[in-house]
Amino acid sequence: MSKQFAVIGHPIEQSRSPELHHAFAKKVGIELTYQKRLAPLDGFIPSIKDFFAQGGIGLNVTVPFKEQAFQQCKVLTERAKIAKAVNTLWVKNGQLHGDNTDGQGLVDAIKALDWSLENSSILILGAGGATRGVIYPLAQAGTKKIVIANRTLVRAEQLVNDLKDFVPHSELQAISLENLDGHFDLIINATSASLSGDALILPKTLTFKYAYEMAYGKPSSFLEQAKSRGVPYSDGYGMLVGQAIESFNIWNGIRPNLKDFI
Ligand code: ATR
Repeated sequence: MSKQFAVIGHPIEQSRSPELHHAFAKKVGIELTYQKRLAPLDGFIPSIKDFFAQGGIGLNVTVPFKEQAFQQCKVLTERAKIAKAVNTLWVKNGQLHGDNTDGQGLVDAIKALDWSLENSSILILGAGGATRGVIYPLAQAGTKKIVIANRTLVRAEQLVNDLKDFVPHSELQAISLENLDGHFDLIINATSASLSGDALILPKTLTFKYAYEMAYGKPSSFLEQAKSRGVPYSDGYGMLVGQAIESFNIWNGIRPNLKDFI
């Protein structure tokens, strides 16, 4: 039987992970099976136990279970501890291990676009789990300044307080979404506004060289505004591929090339 992998979430039908992992496996010449698993909202823990008890090798975790996955792990990577969320699980020496590959996936996607992060200034819109997961990897990639703008200012301030000690070489700031202005190398939309179809208005006094939308496959007023300004932009498909490659590498010890899949 080939090695068994899966992605677990609720809902799960929309997940692109099986097709990505099968494409990576084909490219690097290994055999594996990667399935979607729908866990009941109150049944995540039995579902993961069941998967590993049946000989599963690796699990990706998606919405809404990443925080629960974090809580379950005996061993965590540094970046997963900082993110307080886990999207990649495996068992080693009988212990559940967890990592969070989302942030590195974003960094790799940005690099694949040839947008430099070294000494850059970044504005991130949103202060939820999506933002929390990417601050440390962005700082590790050499970002000089990261400003977190949120509708609810106090959430951005809390995130800055929580994370500042982990990113001593990057300046972290919190602002209200109403007070956007200034110039940034890169602006990242990590709000769930595109998912709910809400518009985000970027004022004229806010300028940026590049724009990245973490969501993909949905109309995005954020990207429309970047497009109309003539700014290079990307949706989050590259990040999705990037995080999948990172997970694939953890489990299989081989790293497919991101540019082959975007
Ligand atoms: P995730 O884990 O995907 O980041 P989340 O924790 O629910 O999800 O966070 C969603 C983020 O999108 C929050 O920063 C939220 O702002 P608030 O903290 O003020 O709620 C932001 N968001 C969602 N809809 C928004 C909208 N229409 N305009 C601006 N920000 C929005």
